[in-house]
Amino acid sequence: MNHSIYFFCFLFLVFSNGLNAASQEGAFSSKGMIVSRSSLASDAGLEIMRQGGNAVDAAVATAFALAVTYPSAGNLGGGGFALVRLPNGRIFSLDHRETAPNASHRDMYLDEEGEPNKHLSRSSALSAGVPGTVDGLLTLLDRFGTMPREKVILPAIRLARDGFPVDFFLSRHIKRYGKKLKDYESSKKKFLRDGAPLSEGDLWIQPDLAKTLLSIAENGRDGFYEGKVAKLIVAEIRARGGIITLKDLKSYSSVWRDPIGIDYRGNRIWTMGPPSSGLLILQMLNMMEPFDLQKLGWGNSKLIHLMIEAEKRAYADRAEYLGDPDFFDVPLEILTSKKYAKKRFQGFEWDRLSESEQISHGEIKNRESRETTHFSVMGSDGMAVSLTTTLNSPYGNKIVVSGAGFLLNNEMDDFSIKSNVMNQFNLIGREANSIEPNKRMLSSMSPTIIVKDDLPILVTGSPGGSTIITTVLQVIINFLDHKMPLQDAVGFPRFHHQWKPDTILYERGAFSPDTRENLERLGYKAFRAWTFGGGIGDANSISFDGSLIQGVKDPRASGGTVGL
Ligand code: GLY
Repeated sequence: MNHSIYFFCFLFLVFSNGLNAASQEGAFSSKGMIVSRSSLASDAGLEIMRQGGNAVDAAVATAFALAVTYPSAGNLGGGGFALVRLPNGRIFSLDHRETAPNASHRDMYLDEEGEPNKHLSRSSALSAGVPGTVDGLLTLLDRFGTMPREKVILPAIRLARDGFPVDFFLSRHIKRYGKKLKDYESSKKKFLRDGAPLSEGDLWIQPDLAKTLLSIAENGRDGFYEGKVAKLIVAEIRARGGIITLKDLKSYSSVWRDPIGIDYRGNRIWTMGPPSSGLLILQMLNMMEPFDLQKLGWGNSKLIHLMIEAEKRAYADRAEYLGDPDFFDVPLEILTSKKYAKKRFQGFEWDRLSESEQISHGEIKNRESRETTHFSVMGSDGMAVSLTTTLNSPYGNKIVVSGAGFLLNNEMDDFSIKSNVMNQFNLIGREANSIEPNKRMLSSMSPTIIVKDDLPILVTGSPGGSTIITTVLQVIINFLDHKMPLQDAVGFPRFHHQWKPDTILYERGAFSPDTRENLERLGYKAFRAWTFGGGIGDANSISFDGSLIQGVKDPRASGGTVGL
């Protein structure tokens, strides 16, 4: 074990919460597990499981609580994706991604010279997509939950109404974004006390948010998308130059989509289809399957080169072919096929790297600071939920809806606001992801469930904008190929390459000195050490061996792992 691993294990010990708080292996249970970015939100899910709720009941309770206790990414004003595996083995995926307002149009963020105005697409009222979270969570609960929504939302209402003490991490985070949150009176009211950001130990009561949650508990989706809350949303947005209307809110609907999957070394990898980018994970696994990754060994420069070459090709395809499938004909079958992967990887050479400039998308004929949050839930019956949700940037567009107490997203920046222009995650896109009314913006969020012999052996996902995809890929490879225990599969240092920019982002400890030397000898020039926050991703994951459920909080960030 090198020093970094010890460091991650140390962080893990410090930051984990839950039944086995003192264990670096996370928590174990045979009955149920919740792993999320907030210990209070995980506890909300646990409370529901204790009352007899299933994994979906617990996931919905956790998600609503995250909107209270982890406001930079937990949300009512954003959107997400959920993958659900039922005890009978069937898999479902729910897309509750935000949509472009009806009055949106392709060039809405370009100035008179045709140049992108990044303020408008990232931090104005115009950057908000129509929120999908509330509809999504209630839709999940209606279809697969067993408990009434009033009960499931109650822990979140209590947290908002009675308050909870702000911990060190939350206060540090709010301080970091305090300057931006000060721009809006409603945001100031929520996050500041006497002009200063909330401090560690302050009891944080959010009465407006409690009222909104109560309205949802009492009236279901109408308590958010119609009536008083809807009017407050539209008033806030219109007063600040945004374009979301009451009609946009009323007509929002989440969509059940077929999950996508491939077989990989005898395992079935299930993930979310477009407008998620889970497809890239499948593509990269397909490209690497012919190689013996375990034999190459974790941290080996050859394996890193192989992975980067797969990443370059997959991200180049993303820019060309991925978008909302209701608006753009994504060539799903081809992109996920072994045949396409083989062809796409034909030019791979062990001793030569492909210049990103030379790589384009494959030929197909006919055919996110990085604030998002992921949590995983599993019940004893094998029901599993993998849910990733976001406001896009930390605290979204920083605008709290006055009187309703929640933040709005700035998800419109995930569209390609101009062809080949990078978004805040340096991702480019083209026609497939251009803005159109009611269309969903392409996302990197990739909740994933892996099944082997009818057992959901791994539930995973991550925040991290463009790094979500490579984070999930590395957890999968560590777990399946390197056969690491879950705490190592999640905790080992990561790296990331996304084709453009042609730079390797890496965590401390990801490359030993001789690995780095080998990569440089191969021709890799641009390396960038990760210096912001805890690390690349926050892959809160659960594994299951048929009797024992293990939950692991990613050591890169605080949160809670709780077992029933
Ligand atoms: N907003 C980050 C993502 O959906 O990828």
